[in-house]
Amino acid sequence: MDEAGVNFRLPGPTPLPPPVLAAMQRPMIAHRGPAFRALYAETLALAREVHRTDHPVLLWPGTGSAGWEVAIVNLLAPGDPVLATVCGAFGDRFAQVGGTLGLDVRRLDAPWGRAIEPTALRQSLQDNPDVKAVFLTHNETSTGVTNPLRELAAEVRDHGALVVVDSVSGAGALPLETDAWGLDFVLSGSQKAWMCPPGLLIAAIGPRAWAAAAESGYPRFFWDIRAARASAEQGMTPTTPPLTLVYAFRAALGMMLEEGMERVWERHRRLGELTRAGVEMAGLRLFAEAGARSDSVTAFLPPEGVTASAFLDRLRRDHAVEAQGGQGHLADSLVRIGHMGWAHEAELRGAVGAVAAVAAELGTGVAPVSAR
Ligand SMILES: Cc1ncc(COP(=O)(O)O)c(C=O)c1O
Repeated sequence: MDEAGVNFRLPGPTPLPPPVLAAMQRPMIAHRGPAFRALYAETLALAREVHRTDHPVLLWPGTGSAGWEVAIVNLLAPGDPVLATVCGAFGDRFAQVGGTLGLDVRRLDAPWGRAIEPTALRQSLQDNPDVKAVFLTHNETSTGVTNPLRELAAEVRDHGALVVVDSVSGAGALPLETDAWGLDFVLSGSQKAWMCPPGLLIAAIGPRAWAAAAESGYPRFFWDIRAARASAEQGMTPTTPPLTLVYAFRAALGMMLEEGMERVWERHRRLGELTRAGVEMAGLRLFAEAGARSDSVTAFLPPEGVTASAFLDRLRRDHAVEAQGGQGHLADSLVRIGHMGWAHEAELRGAVGAVAAVAAELGTGVAPVSAR
């Protein structure tokens, strides 16, 4: 519950824990001075630890979408063939951004609600042997699907293409082993499992990506990873850093590492399970296929004949639960509940209790559907 008594269950932005809120009260400091240098170096070191990488993690003022662009303009050249894997709205948008920036985008689509299958990816790579990079979505927030990132990345590595991962709703919530899984570029945004306000783009960048950056064919300034790395080595950023967000991120990383990443992931696994069980007990159908259901966001169908917006209105009005609808063609047919970041059992129990109550009120005459 936040201060206003709202059970804030969006799949991003997510609730801010007290230490993060407190950190944001700090006054401004000189961004070229020793205090900031120490803070930035420390923050990036903790971010590497959380990403499980020995290679640079860099920050920009920006959001997840900017991360797509940073990856593209630094690792590729206009006209390069890439393979975009798409199983929902965000994978689709990543593919579109590639097209907008002049890449030759080939697509591997899975029906929304399903995950990308490693065998399908292998086939697609055989059919498109020239692709230089593959875009993967770790967790498809629009459908509540987690892709088998480790297995997908292994297929891409076998092929030799760059592994570019959108982990906007995965990082900090779901197991993520940047180096061990051979991920070349992992992007995320502060407003999801990082427990921070929106506005910070986070990218973990491995050696193959740095090599690609030396060859990239795009002009770039603000998003140049080489400039950001050179500054970071001095404890600085090329432009004025978003100080308040850096304070927040430093505090959040400290909380996560204190809890321990395995425990953070386990907490999310339990919250995912609890939420899915509650939704099914309410007689509602989960949208994602079994085996691919996300532990950071749950998507479900409202009772037959009820729109997502009507369901969400009731959740908000009668139970002070703020959830979210679907996206794209599913905008009014899915309800999504976030359980990433600063999320605990009591709030999720409250949320699924409210879902059950609303389902019972609005879903009269609808037979319970089991997705199991
Ligand atoms: C998986 C995924 N990718 C990308 C984005 C875009 O991020 P932003 O809205 O922060 O630009 C989102 C936003 O929710 C997302 O969930």
